[in-house]
Amino acid sequence: MSFKVALNFEDGVTRFITCPATDTVADASYRAGINIPLDCRDGACGTCKSFCESGTYEGGSYIEDALSDEEAAQGFVLTCQMKPRSDLVLRILAPASACKTGVSKQEAEIESVTKLSPTTVSFSLRLAAPVNFLSGQYVNIEVPGSGQTRAYSFSSAPGAPRAEFLIRNIPSGLMSSFITQQAAPGTKVNFTGPVGSFFLREVKRPVLLLAGGTGLAPLLSMLGAMLAEPPAHPVHLVYGVTNDEDLVEVERIEDFAAKLPNFTWSACVASESAAYPHKGYVTRYIQPAHLNGGDVDVYLCGPPPMVEAVRRYFTESGIAPASFHYEKFAPSTAHGAAA
Ligand SMILES: Cc1cc2nc3c(=O)[nH]c(=O)nc-3n(C[C@H](O)[C@H](O)[C@H](O)COP(=O)(O)OP(=O)(O)OC[C@H]3O[C@@H](n4cnc5c(N)ncnc54)[C@H](O)[C@@H]3O)c2cc1C
Ligand code: FES
Repeated sequence: MSFKVALNFEDGVTRFITCPATDTVADASYRAGINIPLDCRDGACGTCKSFCESGTYEGGSYIEDALSDEEAAQGFVLTCQMKPRSDLVLRILAPASACKTGVSKQEAEIESVTKLSPTTVSFSLRLAAPVNFLSGQYVNIEVPGSGQTRAYSFSSAPGAPRAEFLIRNIPSGLMSSFITQQAAPGTKVNFTGPVGSFFLREVKRPVLLLAGGTGLAPLLSMLGAMLAEPPAHPVHLVYGVTNDEDLVEVERIEDFAAKLPNFTWSACVASESAAYPHKGYVTRYIQPAHLNGGDVDVYLCGPPPMVEAVRRYFTESGIAPASFHYEKFAPSTAHGAAA
């Protein structure tokens, strides 16, 4: 029996390998051309120490100097010793280049472009080979003929038949213009990825998802992944946008609510002149029950000012969630605007 192991490197690059239950992760990685830093290979030095984000495994044998009981209880592992007992997600404490690997490149075809509202477009890619990724991650897509790339988070779940994306239509934006004016079914695009450390961890406690605008995309991917394994804990989404016309994919969210028994959600529109009944920012709609006294995993994604405002709200309110993951949809640094 073999399992799928995702190796998420320090720089966000993620590679997937297949590891038989009888093999150590380090050996299976080596066979796949990925050299996780190793020294003794014997559980004695701790050089191969990594962190298991999700999944079950047999830890193997090692000495306390290499991995303490406390570290093992936290989820640290020795890849030269561990053998998988389920699919795994491992955080490798080194950049991909130090492990003689890098981000993978793929060619795809535009399958469809759908205008969801005057401000938001979705598009899907047909892939030559299925792309493995962790729900919440993104790829860097090249704008054909420009030599420039833009980052987009998958809105579809891993394993879905097509890769889907949700994009804010920025007037005169390079990728926005390409997608809305030039892209047609069959247009070829290149991308690299998956990348990113903003991905859904094993659901061990209530989850609060906070989206700003198209920051909804990776959270839709996470909800899609939850369909495959419905969480036993409550999951709540607060989805905030600026204007009525930015509110999209509502039917898709309602579909998740119908299929996921523990999932609830609300939306809000910031503009005071909005027709939508819930006005204001996402923080107005976070209830004490969603925070579960701090025992909650928070996933936050949106434009940089929104992400910063929500982080400030948490700090100023003295709320310290058990885990807090966020992704900022910063404009490309080519425009010098990264936050
Ligand atoms: C990790 C990551 C994931 C991302 N995922 C997504 C995603 O799933 N969906 C998505 O829509 N975007 C996402 N983005 C943002 C995306 O990469 C692009 O920056 C965005 O789509 C604009 O690209 P463009 O080529 O159309 O505009 P550009 O040509 O890059 O920009 C044109 C002009 O518009 C300004 N601008 C850029 N973005 C904005 C904005 N949001 N609001 C106002 N002005 C802006 C620029 O500074 C520039 O002056 C992500 C960014 C990161 C870093
Ligand atoms: S390489 Fe020394 S403990 Fe794994």
